[in-house]
Amino acid sequence: MSKLQAYQEKNTQGRVRLHANESPYHNFPLILETTQSKLQSIRINDYPSLNADKLKEKLASYYNVKPSELLFGNGSDELITMVMQRYLQANDVVVTHAPTFSQYAWNATLLKAQLIEVQDKANYEIDIDCLITAANDSNAKLLILCTPNNPTGALIQEKDMVKIMESTSCMVMVDEAYVDFVDQDYKEMVLSSNRMISLRTFSKAFGCAGLRFGVAIAQENIIAFLNQGRQPYNINVLTQFFIEVLLDHVLLIEKQVQSMLSNKIRIQETLSEMGCVLAPSKANFILFAHPEVKKIEDELYLKGFAIKGFNHISEPYPHARMSIPHDEELEALISALKGIQL
Ligand SMILES: Cc1ncc(COP(=O)(O)O)c(C=O)c1O
Repeated sequence: MSKLQAYQEKNTQGRVRLHANESPYHNFPLILETTQSKLQSIRINDYPSLNADKLKEKLASYYNVKPSELLFGNGSDELITMVMQRYLQANDVVVTHAPTFSQYAWNATLLKAQLIEVQDKANYEIDIDCLITAANDSNAKLLILCTPNNPTGALIQEKDMVKIMESTSCMVMVDEAYVDFVDQDYKEMVLSSNRMISLRTFSKAFGCAGLRFGVAIAQENIIAFLNQGRQPYNINVLTQFFIEVLLDHVLLIEKQVQSMLSNKIRIQETLSEMGCVLAPSKANFILFAHPEVKKIEDELYLKGFAIKGFNHISEPYPHARMSIPHDEELEALISALKGIQL
């Protein structure tokens, strides 16, 4: 079993942060403008609402589900931990695809569970048949799917999700952290299944990574089971307040998502002109490969942009991933890229 490592992050001080798939849009001033007077009545000396009831009502109506079909986490990171803790014991098998979000492996190591990683196909597609075989042959307790997948941006098509559900019998956690960037959503399938959980986050499209807020959607009895393992008061009072306010601004968020997606096309074109191989990402980030990817990463850093290297994904070349900057920084990024001599 691999050694447990604390999450690492490069120093991004003074750099445009394109390494963590965040939204570049800083919506806080707008939220503050509309709520400043209410802020003063928030009692930070009291514990927050134990079950974040008001926010749960509001979010249930946003998702068109029942409040009892939702569970909140201090970021979806906390929900990943809760799901894995509840469904896995030491030596149990958990299957996922690779490359994918590092926290699944981190939690598996912490829980002393056995992680089986099914490598993607060469075109970055998730290998559905191999995942099914791996889950069944190993008698897995949990299958973890990430769609759109971080870091490749690959989607699991609906027919493939149906096939997975029809051909396996274990619990399935679908991490939909980037769902707001695509027009595909597994909420309905999750709510009609007694062994599926969807995870969402407000860290990406909604631009609230600093507030730490994630959402699990599942049938009522699954949510109740997960809730038994939740820390009390895990959503702080300011997060409850601001997420509630933000839900009054979903049109703005949708507009920002559209800007990110159209800015993404400009960056993809530039990277292609530079000879990079691009994963066909559906999300707010681009994974690309180039023999001199480290040079691209280092030169961008010197020019004020932090991106994330993925040297361990080495076929056909080493990779790096970047998210999409604010409209105001887009031209600077494009000219920084074009100025790199390869
Ligand atoms: C696939 C995926 N799931 C979950 C998370 C964690 O999100 P949060 O900020 O809600 O903990 C990330 C963050 O990068 C992610 O990429």
